[in-house]
Amino acid sequence: MATNRNILTLDEFTIQEMRAFPNATGELAGLLRDIGLAAKRINVEVNRAGLVDILGDDGSTNVQGEEVKKLDVFANDQLMGVLKHGISCAGIGSEELDDIVLFDDEISNKAKYICLFDPLDGSSNIDVNVSIGTIFSVYRRVSELGKPATKADFLQAGNQQVAAGYVVYGSSTMLVYATKRGVNGFTLDQSIGEYLLSHPNIKCPTIGKMYSVNHGNFFVFEQGVKEYITACQKKNETNGGPYTQRYIGSMVSDVHRNLIRGGIFLYPSTTSKPKGKLRLLYECNPFAFIVQKAGGKATNGVINILDIVPTELHQRSPLYIGSKFMMEELEDFMEKSKK
Ligand code: AHG
Ligand code: MN
Ligand code: MN
Repeated sequence: MATNRNILTLDEFTIQEMRAFPNATGELAGLLRDIGLAAKRINVEVNRAGLVDILGDDGSTNVQGEEVKKLDVFANDQLMGVLKHGISCAGIGSEELDDIVLFDDEISNKAKYICLFDPLDGSSNIDVNVSIGTIFSVYRRVSELGKPATKADFLQAGNQQVAAGYVVYGSSTMLVYATKRGVNGFTLDQSIGEYLLSHPNIKCPTIGKMYSVNHGNFFVFEQGVKEYITACQKKNETNGGPYTQRYIGSMVSDVHRNLIRGGIFLYPSTTSKPKGKLRLLYECNPFAFIVQKAGGKATNGVINILDIVPTELHQRSPLYIGSKFMMEELEDFMEKSKK
């Protein structure tokens, strides 16, 4: 297949974006390039997962007490490695690590950004050949440049994100990232090993046909959520219902599809898990930033996800995210049930 030279690569695009900011240092472009490189390496291992002995548990559990697969560890190490060797990142926080890692060398201490990530999302799907992903979030440091980063750099509200993105290892591999300028998607051209701008200026349709939720938990959801889900299954002239239920169990894949096609994703609190399952810093915040920059909405059922001030690295939050109209419908149901 001939390569279309009119399509921008990820690097060309980020450099072009810098032209709008005469004072830009290129650090963010460098950081995105580093993450893109780690994701290419992860992609290679994901593609080989059925062939090599990398499958299965590595015998340990992560800080949330969940099973850790070997590929989670590999992905974590790749991301940490590129960011440590790069010049744009002063430290990282990861779903797979108990605590933050501060790079604390002369160059890293001068870097203006820190990065948080879920190295492998949907890891229970690895063994069954279903799409999985990587999620990342970038903040400007609040600590003094020239010194090591501090915990406060990592515990900022999501509305302070400079950029956030994800990579989906699916039928093709895509990197999607958002900055305040908008959301853009790049598809990995394996033949040249470059991400090409395939989805410029992504906008989330105001309404879609899909709702994504773990239906098995229906009876332990709060009343308003149950009523909304029930309404999703009924014929409705104003919202185009009944909707189609789609739930992959890899948040990256579920939210990616809903972002492109329109839809809503719910991971509510349950009676046994009042804070839900998903992690605010590694999963909820980055997706809330991306989806909101694309015109959608994201809440914890009470307030905008991005307004939550985190107190702990690994804290969880209920998450409702997706197309604007569908989110507003859900909010109506939740409000009415509380009256
Ligand atoms: P991770 O693999 O990083 O632990 O994340 C899995 C998450 C998310 O991707 C997915 O939407 C959700 O867990 C699925 O949870 P349930 O199986 O409880 O529905
Ligand atoms: Mn995850
Ligand atoms: Mn994970």
